[in-house]
Order: sequence, then structure tokens, then C-alpha cells
Amino acid sequence: MFKLYIISIDMNIGLIGSGGREHALCQKLFESRSSKKIFCFPGNAGTADIATNIDVDILNFNKIYKLIKFHKIDIVIVGPEEPLVKGLVNFLNKKKVKVFGPNKYASKLEGSKAFMKNLCKANKIPTANFKICRSLRHVKNFLKISNFPIVVKADGLAAGKGVTICKNKKAVLNISDEIFKGKFKSSKKVVLEEFLKGEEASYFLVVDKNNFKFFGTAQDHKRVGEKDRGPNTGGMGAYSPALIINKEVEKKIIEKIVKPTLTALKKKKQPYKGILYVGLMIKNNEPYLIEYNVRMGDPECQVILPRLKTDLLSIIKNTINDNLKNIKIKWRKEKSMTIVLCSKGYPGKYKKNVRVNNLKDLKLKENSFIFHAGTKLFQNKIYSVGGRVLNITSIGNNLTKVRKDIIKIIKKINWKSGFFRKDIGWKIIN
Ligand code: AMP
Ligand code: GLY
Repeated sequence: MFKLYIISIDMNIGLIGSGGREHALCQKLFESRSSKKIFCFPGNAGTADIATNIDVDILNFNKIYKLIKFHKIDIVIVGPEEPLVKGLVNFLNKKKVKVFGPNKYASKLEGSKAFMKNLCKANKIPTANFKICRSLRHVKNFLKISNFPIVVKADGLAAGKGVTICKNKKAVLNISDEIFKGKFKSSKKVVLEEFLKGEEASYFLVVDKNNFKFFGTAQDHKRVGEKDRGPNTGGMGAYSPALIINKEVEKKIIEKIVKPTLTALKKKKQPYKGILYVGLMIKNNEPYLIEYNVRMGDPECQVILPRLKTDLLSIIKNTINDNLKNIKIKWRKEKSMTIVLCSKGYPGKYKKNVRVNNLKDLKLKENSFIFHAGTKLFQNKIYSVGGRVLNITSIGNNLTKVRKDIIKIIKKINWKSGFFRKDIGWKIIN
């Protein structure tokens, strides 16, 4: 007789980041069969409930390495883009630490718009026409042959503030001049782009050296005001799946955008590994690449992960070991939505360190979740420390009802210093 032993090795996990995305990741890792202890660098008041928060600068790689050794961490998962773009994965790999995320070269897909656009051009990937400019003279030359609006982008990371849609020449020259003069330290170049019309959606993949697998779709709501008005934000809410990505569009995304990109990186001997976020504009069933991000979206992660049925840690381990083909990723059929509760004034100036009451005693139904973002625990009380403070997520078959349920929860939280968009999903909900 054979005996079957199921070996599950429990792991200590290090999770880098402090937003709603990281609380959603932390929750899934906490539920995993093979997670032992989770350490969040630095985490928030939500992760503090299920993990150990460690206050550390996430760009101080040496300090992070010391903490990994001290706490006997077996695997590191990187939430935000900045440490990836600055090479945390290369740094930890050299030290033989297992880490989930793309290396510094592959992270240029997000870290340099010029790199991404040149890769698109070389591989005939559908995207907006563009010009990379190193001086105002280059900008003026492009303006002679272009129509308005024109999208002006800082080349490097700009914490979501690097893109401006300009209606006239003066605006293009002003913002380009500011970028050349160092408005964003990471950018010496300006990318000018043709303005694409259509509907935006995000498509996610998990990628290892040999394979990739679907990792959900979502639609974010970037503008602060209802009906998509007002300035851009990090994201005011999202729902999943994104209905605009039908089977035909998905096939085009894979064939025309994803495969040529992954092949191009492999040819450079820099294969992509981790989550790939494909930001798209879709018009008449044709997808155009707007941007790549080298991580989960925030708040997209907060709607995608609650629909995931497969063990997240197992997906991550198989990706690190280039074994993705051995795993089947399963999803719940229901839809999900998240609404972000923000500090009044966001994305402009807002107050910090404001008490958030009513969370501890709140009873949530099985399919509702609160993911913390800009919160901090101090003497066992919760305070807001960011613009986006809480993500209230719910799952169900009917998004109209899901949204009503979320708004009921927000009313119970009754945070007087907060505001939120009541119309998340407005393009698909009557
Ligand atoms: P990005 O940081 O490149 O994702 O740009 C931020 C937002 O600006 C996108 O989510 C779009 O809403 C908008 N955007 C960027 N590029 C374009 C474009 N070429 N045409 C239209 N809208 C764009
Ligand atoms: N929600 C947009 C982003 O994560 O970049």
C-alpha cells in the first residue's frame, strides 16, 4: 500500500507596501494554507490585525534585507512599483532571497514611458502615436504636425501625477517646460502622445519565465468627481470583471500586445516575472495599450483578489519557480466592486491624523470586506494618514445591489472627514 503525504511547507512572508492593495494581498496570504507569519513593511491599520507591521523605508534595501534575515522570512512579495523600478528584486535575488515581482530591467515597462513606447514601436504593438522629446525644440516640432488634445507625460515614475491632457499649445509647452526643469526628479524626457478615445479597462496577468496566466480584469475610476469629472486620482473605485473585455478583445490583447511584449523581453534575456497590469483603451473592439504597470493595480487588486478561489501563495510560489503551467487559477463567477473612502480635499490638500471611528464594532456580511489604505494604528485607535483611506468591497451577482450594500457600510462608518463617489460602475449600471 502506498501512503500519500501532502507536504505543505509553512512560510514566513514579507509583504512590501502600505496601501489598500497590500491589505487585500495580506488578507489572501493570511488565508493561504501554507502561510505562517506575515510581516508588512510597513503595512497599515488593517494589516496590523492579521500581520506584524514593521515601520521601515521601503527604498532602504539593506534595512529590508536585515529584517528579512532577522524574522526568517522565506518569501518576499512586492506591492508597489517604486522598489521594483529601483531594483529590489535584483538586490534580493543576489542575496538568495525568494521574491515575487519583475527585475529592474523588466520594470522599465512602468518606470520609463519612453522605454515602453519604443518597445511598442519596435514590435508593432497598438498604442497612441508618440514622440519622445528631450528639449522644448523637440516639443515644438511635434506640435507642428499634431492635433489637439495632446497627452503630455513625464518619462519616469510620478506617483500618478505625470500625465496631463492638453487642449492647446501653451499648455503643452508649460507642462513640458516644468518636466524638463525637474518637476519629477525621475524624468528628464517628455513623451507626447496622440489622445485616444474609447473606454479604459485593465487586464491582469501573472507571468513566469515560460508561461502566463489570466489574472482578472477590472475597470478603475480615476477622476475624483462623479461621471468621471475633475482631476485624476490614484483611483476612486473599481469593479471586476470589466465587461468591455469580451472574448474577441481578450484574444487581441494577448496576440497583439502581451505576447510581443513578453517575447521582446525574453530576447533581451530579461524575462518578465510577476504580475503584469495592461492598461488599455478599447475602441470598436480594438485594444490600444495606454500603459503597463509592473504590479497589481490599486484599487483593482481590491476587486480582483476577493474573486480569486485558488490559493494566492501557491500561485506566487509556482511563479517564482517557473512552474505556472502546473497550476489552474480559478475565479468566483460573481462580480465585485470597491468604493474608496477618501479624505475631504483629496487629490488636493487634506487633513491627516484624523480619527476614524466605528470600524472596530462594524459587523460585515460574508461577502463584504474593508481594506485599509491610508490608515495607521496608534494606541489601538485608527487614524487617517493618506488621501485614500478605506476601500469598501462587496461581491454579488448584481452590481446595483453590490453598490447599495457598499454605500450602506460607508454610511455606518459615518466618517465626517471623508467623501466617496456614489456612481462607481455608472457606465454599466443604470
Ligand atoms: P497613465 O499614467 O499613462 O496610465 O495615464 C493616466 C491616465 O491618463 C490614463 O488612465 C488615461 O485616462 C489617460 N491617458 C493616458 N494616455 C492617454 C492617451 N494617449 N489618450 C487618452 N487618455 C490617456
Ligand atoms: N489604479 C491605477 C493604478 O494602480 O495604477
